[in-house]
Amino acid sequence: MYALSLEKVSKHYGRLTALDNIDLKVKPNTIFGLLGSNGAGKTTMISCITGTEHKDDGKIKVFGKDIDKQTQESKFQIGVVPQEFNFSIFEKVKDIIIWQAGYYGKSSNEVKERLNFLLHELNLYDKRNQPARNLSGGMKRRLMIARALIHKPKLLFLDEPTAGVDVDLRAQTWKFIEKLKKEEKMTIFLTTHYLEEAEQMCDEIAIIKSGKILKSASKKSLLNELESEVFTVKTNKPIKIESKAIKFYQTTKGQTEVEVSKSTKLSAVFELAHKKQVEIYDIRPKTNQLERLYLQLNQ
Ligand SMILES: Nc1ncnc2c1ncn2[C@@H]1O[C@H](COP(=O)(O)OP(=O)(O)OP(=O)(O)O)[C@@H](O)[C@H]1O
Ligand SMILES: [Mg+2]
Repeated sequence: MYALSLEKVSKHYGRLTALDNIDLKVKPNTIFGLLGSNGAGKTTMISCITGTEHKDDGKIKVFGKDIDKQTQESKFQIGVVPQEFNFSIFEKVKDIIIWQAGYYGKSSNEVKERLNFLLHELNLYDKRNQPARNLSGGMKRRLMIARALIHKPKLLFLDEPTAGVDVDLRAQTWKFIEKLKKEEKMTIFLTTHYLEEAEQMCDEIAIIKSGKILKSASKKSLLNELESEVFTVKTNKPIKIESKAIKFYQTTKGQTEVEVSKSTKLSAVFELAHKKQVEIYDIRPKTNQLERLYLQLNQ
């Protein structure tokens, strides 16, 4: 059974088609990344699944439960961290989280342990009695994560969880997401503009453009689609070669890179450089392979 499935889902805002006949499947206990540029339809898709917007067409199932026919059962399995802050800044941190539990029929006593666990995990314990307006932007985002998790959902939606979050906190957030996957067997559906993070963290990736899914596959098979790999290299002098299988060039930042076709052995790169009397001191894969694929698809 899939954690989430969308079948021919469409959503229009007047004459604009925000979601165009979307088919998508998310396997349980995976981190699924939905990538796409501003206005591609990511938030609209999450809104249609989680019920803040109504789709115009199609079928959505959460762990086999149809969101139109088994609304309550499907909703109880979902946690949502929206892109925009949507809590009252005048309420206390812990109250914002406890009230959410109330929507799922749980009393504050029942969720006491879970509340404390989340406050500690998300570094909000010291702020628990303060009004949310006293929190920094990163803390507010963590508050929304805690709120979304209070009822132990099986499927968590994170709409740009690391937008505007500093490097340290981004790393912490990812660590926490991995922990949820591992220890709570959660399925995580997220959107992000940080392709390097998506490449590192996501098991499955879908790319959306103008409301259409361009690709949806495991990260591994997506990256395998690239016909070449790019490496950054350090050499004793500048090198520029353009052959079919191997291309040496300098980036605008003055960094030397070499693009090598998949069928070419790395030893051929060294041989070619050697022939041109250039020595290679260091060579390593350029990390953001996904960005290359993304840019190719989004052309
Ligand atoms: N309530 C609305 N009324 C009218 N148009 C809307 C509404 N919400 C979204 N749209 C439009 O639908 C399209 C998709 O928007 P959406 O918010 O889903 O994009 P997104 O992929 O989440 O972008 P971002 O990366 O900027 O968050 C955009 O053209 C947007 O202007
Ligand atoms: Mg959005």
